[in-house]
Amino acid sequence: MTEFIIAPSILSADFARLGEDTQAVLDAGADWVHFDVMDNHYVPNLTIGPLVLKALRNYGITAPIDVHLMVKPVDRIIGDFAQAGASIITFHPEASEHVDRSLALIKESGCKAGLVLNPATPVHVLEHVMDKLDVILLMSVNPGFGGQSFIDGTLKKLETVRTMIDQSGFDIRLEVDGGVKVDNIAEIAAAGADTFVAGSAIFNTDDYANTITNMRQMIQQ
Ligand code: DX5
Ligand code: ZN
Repeated sequence: MTEFIIAPSILSADFARLGEDTQAVLDAGADWVHFDVMDNHYVPNLTIGPLVLKALRNYGITAPIDVHLMVKPVDRIIGDFAQAGASIITFHPEASEHVDRSLALIKESGCKAGLVLNPATPVHVLEHVMDKLDVILLMSVNPGFGGQSFIDGTLKKLETVRTMIDQSGFDIRLEVDGGVKVDNIAEIAAAGADTFVAGSAIFNTDDYANTITNMRQMIQQ
C-alpha cells in the first residue's frame, strides 16, 4: 500500500511566528515541511534561506524538511542548506548548468535529491538521471507564488512519470506542488502522486488537523 506524504508549504504560514505555526501543522498530522526558497531571479519572488531553516531546527522542528530551491545558480547554496538541516533538496533543471553535478552535490552533502519540473518542462530531462533521484516534483502551477489554481494538464504528466518510475524499479517519490486542495487531491493521487505539497489549502484554514484529516480521507485506498 502506498505511503502518502502530506507536506504543507510554509510559504503560506505566519512568518512572524514561523516556528510555532510549523510545529502546529506537524502536530496536526503533517509528515514533511515543504520549504520554498525563491530568489527574485529564477522566480519573481523572494522568500527564505538557510538561516531560517536553521532557526526552525533550533526551535525544535525534527520532521523532514523538503527544500524546494527556486534559485539560480543552484550549486553554491546546496552546502548551506545541508548544514542548516535540510533533509531533501530539489531544484529546477533549467536553473542548473550541470544537472548531474548538482544532484551529486546534494547527495554528497548527505541529503536526498530531486528534480522539479515546471508545467511546460518535458519529462525527458529525467531519463538519464533516474538512478540518482529520490524525489520527482511536478509543479502544477508556475513557480513563484502560493494560492494559484492547479493546472489540469499535470494529471496526464503525473501518469506519464508514474509509469517511468514504476518501469525504472527505483524507489522515487512522486510529489506534486501547487493548487492541491481537499477537493482535487483524490484525482491527483489517482494519477500517481504519493507526496502532496499544500500551502494555502492548509494554512488558510482555521483547523489544520481537520484539513489534513480530510485530505488523507480523500486519498485512502
Ligand atoms: C510555488 C511553491 C508552492 C506553493 C504552494 O512556487 O513552490 O510550494 O507555495 O502553494 P499552494 O498550495 O497555495 O498552491
Ligand atoms: Zn514548492
